Amino acid sequence: MTQPIIHPIDVILHKRDGLVLNDAEIQAFIRAIVERTAENQLVTDAQIASFLMAVFQRGLNPQELATLTQAMRYSGDTFDAAPLHTFTIDKHSTGGVGDKTSLLIAPTLAAAGLAHLTPAGVPGICVPMISGRSLGHTGGTLDKLETIPGFNTQLNLTQLAGTLRKCGAALIGQTPRIVPADRTLYALRDHTGTVESPFLITASIMSKKLAESLNALVLDVKVGSGAFMPTYEQSKFLAQLMVQTGESSGTRTVALLTSMDQPLGRFSGNWVEVWECIDIMQGQRHAMSHDLIEISNILSGWMLHLAGRTTTPEEGATLADQILQSGEAYKAWLKIIAAQGGDTSIFQNPSAFHKPKASRILKAETSGYLASMDCKQVGWAVQRLGAGRAKPGDPVSAHAGIEMHAKLGDKLEAGQPLATLFSEDPALLDEPEHMLRETLEITAAPPALQPLIHEIVTKN
Ligand code: URA
Repeated sequence: MTQPIIHPIDVILHKRDGLVLNDAEIQAFIRAIVERTAENQLVTDAQIASFLMAVFQRGLNPQELATLTQAMRYSGDTFDAAPLHTFTIDKHSTGGVGDKTSLLIAPTLAAAGLAHLTPAGVPGICVPMISGRSLGHTGGTLDKLETIPGFNTQLNLTQLAGTLRKCGAALIGQTPRIVPADRTLYALRDHTGTVESPFLITASIMSKKLAESLNALVLDVKVGSGAFMPTYEQSKFLAQLMVQTGESSGTRTVALLTSMDQPLGRFSGNWVEVWECIDIMQGQRHAMSHDLIEISNILSGWMLHLAGRTTTPEEGATLADQILQSGEAYKAWLKIIAAQGGDTSIFQNPSAFHKPKASRILKAETSGYLASMDCKQVGWAVQRLGAGRAKPGDPVSAHAGIEMHAKLGDKLEAGQPLATLFSEDPALLDEPEHMLRETLEITAAPPALQPLIHEIVTKN
């Protein structure tokens, strides 16, 4: 029996009018996006934009969301981890300022995997980490990694499998063939005011993560002034949608709602963030890095627990800290970086590799407590220094960034350094300095502090 033809206009009208889309309608719409050519516009940009706005307005029920995510996931190439016979797991963060946990978590899990090889000699845990670039006020793991001379983030899926076999983790960028539907949808969302839909965000993020062929996924969903979603409730709703979507496709999924009220750790930028992680993996724990270490260990702890290495996530966090402190994570890091062509000699003296052309220290104007900041504004200051990009494709500076000298709640004397700004261009220092001065608030009384981890969302 021939299948009835599904026209994009009917899918749009159904969603616009609040009807529930069936699987065939959603699948046909996504297929039309990836199969269209210049000569044969199976669906036009205008129609895709209308569909996005209809979803933005009407939302999706769990079945529609699961089907959209799966249709996007299989819109191009997917990684097949089955031949590795290992436990695949990844972490995804909704993005933040100074958020470099991936650079600690991937080698920590790789070290745990390398410590228990399968009978076929493959690490017992593998992390096929496909990361993104900085955009807006948030940093991107790929931009940080690409400050390492020679490091290649553009591996194909065969090379990804080879690196996992050898190292237990690989840190790569999305290829044009992975989830191509998301490229089209995301580009149009950017132009049509439909980025902030929790349903579209879930389908976008989860389709790419599920294309990695994961047994489990830990999500770090940010809340607070530097978070992508504007309110706690919206962050929590997003976390619930992502957990539900991951679980419904057979991937154990857990989301942690974590604070993004101030930059995570000591540095925000590109090379400076790699440097901070090398220090930690080499056993140096700067006082400003404590929140970064804590949150990385908690996320790694959940991953080790889901991978069956520990009975509880708390035991997992303790094991993660041991792996970091013992130098095993650093060994795994060197192996991953070398396997992807990176020059590991620069890690012997990472501070010597930090060569900004200009820097400026911002000092506290009054004595008191660092009480609040708009973390998004701090992220934009990092971007304006040259570390981030205003639009996709812009180049980023390796050495631009900010070093924070105080955390929220710290007591400061007037004249004490608050932050150091770095840039490759002295002319780029003024505006970020002004932005930081405006947003870093010092008060006479100590502020009430937020916990680092707010809530954990699981399928239950
Ligand atoms: N990151 C993504 O990959 N997609 C979104 O929609 C938002 C953040």
